[in-house]
Amino acid sequence: MAIEDKIKLLLDKREQAKLGGGQKRIDAQHRKGKLTARERIELLLDDGSFEEFDMFVTHNCHDFGLEKESYLSDGVVTGFGTIDGRLVYVFSQDFTVFGGSLSEAYAQKICKVLDKAMKVGAPVIGINDSGGARIQEGVQSLAGYAEIFQRNILASGVVPQISAIFGPCAGGAVYSPALTDFIVMSKKTSYMFVTGPKVVKTVTGEVVTDEELGGAMVHGSKSGVTHFVAEDEKEGISLIRKLISYLPQNNLEDTPLMPCDDPIDRLDESLNYFIPDNPNKPYDVKDVIHSIVDYGEFMEVARHYAPNIVIGFGRFNGMSVGIVANQPNYLAGVLDINSSRKAARFVRFCDAFNIPLLTLVDVPGFLPGTAQEYGGIIIHGAKLLYAYGEATVPKVTVILRKAYGGAYDVMSSKHLRGDINYAWPTAEIAVMGPKGAIEVLQNKKIAEIENEAERLSYIQNAEQEYKDKFANPYNAAKYGYIDDVIEPRNTRFRVIRAFQSLSTKKDVNPAKKHDNLPL
Ligand code: HXC
Repeated sequence: MAIEDKIKLLLDKREQAKLGGGQKRIDAQHRKGKLTARERIELLLDDGSFEEFDMFVTHNCHDFGLEKESYLSDGVVTGFGTIDGRLVYVFSQDFTVFGGSLSEAYAQKICKVLDKAMKVGAPVIGINDSGGARIQEGVQSLAGYAEIFQRNILASGVVPQISAIFGPCAGGAVYSPALTDFIVMSKKTSYMFVTGPKVVKTVTGEVVTDEELGGAMVHGSKSGVTHFVAEDEKEGISLIRKLISYLPQNNLEDTPLMPCDDPIDRLDESLNYFIPDNPNKPYDVKDVIHSIVDYGEFMEVARHYAPNIVIGFGRFNGMSVGIVANQPNYLAGVLDINSSRKAARFVRFCDAFNIPLLTLVDVPGFLPGTAQEYGGIIIHGAKLLYAYGEATVPKVTVILRKAYGGAYDVMSSKHLRGDINYAWPTAEIAVMGPKGAIEVLQNKKIAEIENEAERLSYIQNAEQEYKDKFANPYNAAKYGYIDDVIEPRNTRFRVIRAFQSLSTKKDVNPAKKHDNLPL
């Protein structure tokens, strides 16, 4: 064969591979409001940066008529490219080929990408759109899933792993995304569940739709499985590009600094008047975050889940920082099972990837009640405590208002190796709020006062005395638990200076096989 013919053959095969399961199925994909696997990669990566692997792979199945039907690439497009010039590895499941179902060969393609990403230390982005295990392949497909899971596990904490769910993701297939660091789901076109509506109806009698059982908002707000809910795939892809900008390539590197001309000493006078006089009045802690980060830009993670704690990424003088903040606007910012789990996972992610942590504290304590105790708040609260205590990245804390009880300890306190702990003058650091404290301490005395007016006045005075003593940051500062009480308007500058001073911080945990985080 002449070289021209050989090249033509190559180009023809490429064209054929690009058609996936054929134009009719591509059209059907578009009709559902979905992009194809290749269109998604094109949007995700910098123009022209995609280098594809294994375009000519086909399945090895000889049963159920599959020996007569095969497609180049076999239902998953894999390779590497760049996002803002930084290397990433990708795989994108192609629903037009056997419904994106996973064969042995297909799994090997994904494993190759994960292995390569681990070797060179680059993030992996997996785009999921699949009918699950390729039914005709049986156990080989199941084996393929487990090979992927194993690599997800080994890559965890080594390279960032991000999953997009842009179609079905059901059965055991959900566990690969679940093992990754972040999940992005698109509204209306994606769903995730271990067992689908038909099985649910048979087993429990419940009647639910795909969307009700495992749609993006369900996982964004109820289960917390997904970290980002996108209006559509395009938004989902741009979220991933943005997220990558806050992350390092791997656990041995820092996130690259971004150029920043937002002045580090920018004051915000309004912060001095930000905390309401009434200690029970809520406010939106995100206003504080927006005020102090570079250009007011904050990328919130898991926005719809456990909103009593806010987590996400911002930058301080160009440096990527993970921010955790109690949210007084929701349940008074109390710590409960879901918020503890949500924040603990985030703190551990940041620590694994050298992303410094800023903690903004306004927490009245842990949520009381049988629902919380029966649900295991003890073990779940311990997760957050554990996460902060084991984290060795620079940790800066600012107590804005309440830091009561065990929650004071948990929220990156000095005693959990918090590096620099500041408080606003409005901080109240105590075992509990004045009302509860007086009830406990002076219960008998109060009961002895028969006259009601006298009793109320006594309670008021006792509460005031307690407030004067504890509803301020100075008692904690007296012991060095607070490094300084700072003017709220100056918070951005003080936080940046704190992180600058910690840029060469080194801290290590004792050698161990691995820890035993309370799961
Ligand atoms: C082989 C499959 C397939 C599968 C879909 N297809 N799922 N082929 N194995 N698992 C094929 C269809 O035959 C069809 O082929 C094409 O993909 C598109 O499927 P449709 O059904 O026409 O599409 P749609 O109506 O959009 O429905 C999508 C779907 C449905 C909801 C995903 O196909 C479905 O329910 N599939 C089966 C899902 C499932 O039970 N999977 C196994 C889960 S258990 P043609 O030729 O017509 O285009 C599992 C275990 C993993 O995954 C364990 C890991 C530990």
